Parts: sequence; structure tokens; C-alpha cells
Amino acid sequence: MVYQIYPRSWADGNGDGIGDLPGITARLPYLRDLGVDALWLSPFYVSPQADAGYDVADYRDIDPIFGTLADADKLVSAAHGLELKVIVDLVPNHSSDEHPWFQAALAAGPGSPERERYVFRNGQGRHGELPPNNWLCVFGGAAWTRVKAADGTDGQWYLHLFAAKQPDFNWENPPVRAEFEDVLRFWLDKGVDGFRVDVANALVKAAGLPDWDEPLHLLGDADGVRHEHYGPRPPMWDQEGVHEIYRAWRQILNSYNPIDAAGYSNDSDRILCAEAWVDSQDRLARYVRADEMHQAFNFQFLQAQWRASDLRDAVTNSLNAADSVGAPATWVLSNHDVVRHASRLGLSVGTKRPNGIGVGDPQPDAALGLRRARAATALMLALPGSSYIYQGEELGLPDSTDMPDDVRQDPTWPRSGHTERGRDGCRVPMPWEGDQPSYGFGPSARTWLPQPGSYADLAVDRQVGVAGTTLELYRTLLTARREHGLGAGSLSWLGGYPEEVVAFVNEPAVGERVLVIANLGAEPVAVPGGAQILVSSGPLTSQGLVPTDTSVWLSA
Ligand code: GLC
Repeated sequence: MVYQIYPRSWADGNGDGIGDLPGITARLPYLRDLGVDALWLSPFYVSPQADAGYDVADYRDIDPIFGTLADADKLVSAAHGLELKVIVDLVPNHSSDEHPWFQAALAAGPGSPERERYVFRNGQGRHGELPPNNWLCVFGGAAWTRVKAADGTDGQWYLHLFAAKQPDFNWENPPVRAEFEDVLRFWLDKGVDGFRVDVANALVKAAGLPDWDEPLHLLGDADGVRHEHYGPRPPMWDQEGVHEIYRAWRQILNSYNPIDAAGYSNDSDRILCAEAWVDSQDRLARYVRADEMHQAFNFQFLQAQWRASDLRDAVTNSLNAADSVGAPATWVLSNHDVVRHASRLGLSVGTKRPNGIGVGDPQPDAALGLRRARAATALMLALPGSSYIYQGEELGLPDSTDMPDDVRQDPTWPRSGHTERGRDGCRVPMPWEGDQPSYGFGPSARTWLPQPGSYADLAVDRQVGVAGTTLELYRTLLTARREHGLGAGSLSWLGGYPEEVVAFVNEPAVGERVLVIANLGAEPVAVPGGAQILVSSGPLTSQGLVPTDTSVWLSA
């Protein structure tokens, strides 16, 4: 069970309105009480914050808005003291344009070794006025920006698959590889337990950087339908060459893992987890072969529509693909890049997954969304494998869907020409105490994004110890999951239920089996006679039946 902390928005120790490492350290007991095994921190490195920290200017230091390296050391040791592992975010595809290497590349000019660390090319057209190819940036617009030459005239272009302030590294260049291997060792030496690897599918580009005329599909196929690319693979994603990078990294991680008395290395102690938006579960499984990463996020599950058959397909495909390479499956419903599932599931079934929701957009049905989100989470947490939860989902937080557009900070909004609102709605600071300024996010009323009024009643202090709240549901689920050993169980589907019911048994190697019924149909369903309810995502009917949009765990 991994809990994702978005450092800007979890806990603000100094009252400047932006979360920080001392704020996180002070709140760590909350995670122990919630019952997770590990936390993953989105980037905290030195950064101009052009993409909320995914634009790194120094991979070996902490941005002053978040604290210092000493604060990071304290966080890691406090977490370890609470038996929580710490996973940090590694951003190897691109740096910030303010990284010293990029500044050196600008100063050194065409043909220099400094420019070789990034992807600089001459433009097309008579005067080089056209970009080197037709690739588009994930956030909108062209993926190339032209720089000035030393004499002030227009010069070469550099590639950025994301914002212009995020130049892509050239992973064919040996010094880039050596640098990141050293960055891995730097954080491993600090005692971190693993890395979440940002856009792990992007590092290597096809030779010659050929044009690509189809859509990019980076943050997934928003309609929730699986699209297999039967033609050529896009030249910027999922190239074969990425795998040798991860094999080299795995060797480094293994060298940090303890050797037991019998001389065997426990090579799953420190882990790598891939963020890779690829076409299919089979392509994803290639990132978690025995000598590469340990886990990879499962975006097919996140994108499944609220239909029993879609969920069953996503689960079956994921388990089969993971089994084919001997890796654990993973499950995730929310993160800092997508509309929170309590809001997403409040849109009509079949709706294309929006990239942000704002004023004037169709608004989710909040009560329906929360009910379905609780049922979806109860289903997810019963699945064998590893689950990732995103800060605030344990409170049932919705996205902020009425945020004024002029406070938005995601580069998606301006780069898309104000057509895609982007990801600010899921990044709003956490409410801890409903009666305090900033709902207890920090010691002042300041928050870098405004909090919706609905967050007061969802604050931690309004939910903790209160029967039936979403926070107590998560705690109950996480405790039962641990007690029953469900993460290491094996799943079999149960027949005999209506089509719109997802029903399965999770049989752990040790621990008692758990029967799970998630009812997505309109009619209430009965539980098997004699089965005892362990936990339910919502109230049962007066006859003890499982109503629509409700999941139950039973011992049987
Ligand atoms: C990943 C991150 C996202 C970021 C992008 C570029 O998709 O999750 O937040 O904008 O990479 O680094």
C-alpha cells in the first residue's frame, strides 16, 4: 500500500501557503494510523516550479519552498521510525531549462558536448525557421522551441515533450546515463526505499526523430477505451532502448539490497516503479520483467468506466500480464494528473475522462461520485498486488471543479490555448481541521490554490473516529487487507451473479479468504447465506442486500 503525497499540497509547516517537508514529517503518524506501508513523494527538488516540480534544476537538493536536505533526512528517518518506506520521484526524461547543464548548452552553442546532453537540432526551412519535426507537446503546441544564437540571431531548436521549460535529455549521450546513475546512488545513500520513475516510456526516441501524425495519447486515452497501436509505435514513446536503462538501474538497486545469511540478495527491498502510459498491459509488463523495474502503474484500471465488464476485463488483463513476467499487479484510481475518482465517477458512465473540470463545464454529481468512489476503492483494495492511493482520496475529496480559471497554475491551461483546464483541481491543499484557517493545511490562511468550501466537512478531524466516514472506511479496508494478507493473495471470479455484479474470491497464501461483491447494477443483490460481512462501502438495504454502487467484503 503506497500513499502518494503531493508535497505542495499535503501539509504546510511554515505558513507560506505551500506544503513542505517539515509539514509532512509532523503529520507522518497520520499515515501510520491509516495503515499504509510506504509513501511516495512527488518531486521536492530545486525547481522553478513551471510544472509543479516536474521541472528539476538540481537533482541532489531540495527546493527552498519545501525545506533543506537536512529536512529530507529527518523525514526519511521519522518515516522509518514509524515503519513507513519512502519512495521519491525521479524525473529523468527532462530537466528544467534552468538546470546548469541546459544553461551551459545554451552558452556553448551548436555542435558542443554541452548541447549533446539535450536534443538540439537545426530547424527546417530556408532559414531554419520551421521546427525540426512535427511532434507536439503533451501540454499543447509544438514540442520544439527555438533558441537565440550568441550573436542574438535565431539559432537551433530544442525538444521538449512537455512544457518549454522542460527540455528533454538526450539519453544516447553517455554522460546523461552516468549522471542519473549517480543521482540514484545519491538518494539510495540517503536511505530512500525506491523511486517512482516519471514518464519512464519517453527517455529514448526513435532514431532520426521521424514525423508522427497521430495523436499523442500521453496521459492515456481519455475516452477510457483501449487503443492498441497496430501500426508503428509513436517515435517518442515506449522505444526498445529504454529497457537497457532500467536493467542498469536494477543492478544499482540490487547492490543496495541486503544479503541474507544464506548469501542471497533480497532484490525487492528497494524498488523502482514506472509511470509509463503505454498501449497495452503486455507492453507495460515489459517494464517489470525480472531484471527491470519492480512495479508499473496500471492506468487501464484507472481509466476503466464504471461498468462491471470493463472492471473485470481490466483486472483480468492486468493479472495475466503481471503473471506473465512474475511481477505484482498494481492498482490506482487517482493521482496528481487526473480528476479525482470521487468526481470522475460522478459523471455519466461513458463520458470521456476530462482533463480538469471548471466553471461552465458539466459538473459531476457529488453524492453519486462519492458513493461509487467508495465502492471502487473497496473493490481495488481487495485485489491482489500493490495499491497506490493519492492524498485526500481517503477523505472522499472531490476535485475542485469551480476554481476560477485565473488562479490555475498547470501549464496545460495556457499551452492548450485555454481549451484544457488541466490538473489543478486534484492538487488543492488537504483539509486537516475543518474550523481552522486553510482548514488546518498550515498555520496561516494561505493556500497556493483555493480550497472549495466543501472541504471543511471533509477535513480529517471531522472524520476521524466517526463511523461511516470515508476516512474510517479506508482505515477499516486497509486493516482488513493487511490482516487477511490480500496483497499476496490470488483471485478467482465467482459465477452465478448478474452481469452487472463484480464478484470474486481473494485467497491469500496465509490468512483467510475474502469474498468480494461489487454491485454496479440497479437491483440489490443477496450475499451468500452464512457469510459474514467484514466491511461494506455503504449501508445495506433493510433486508440486508447489497444495493447499487456498493461493494462488500465477506468472510466465507
Ligand atoms: C508525469 C507527471 C506529470 C508531469 C509530467 C512531466 O506525467 O506525473 O505531473 O507533468 O510527467 O514531467
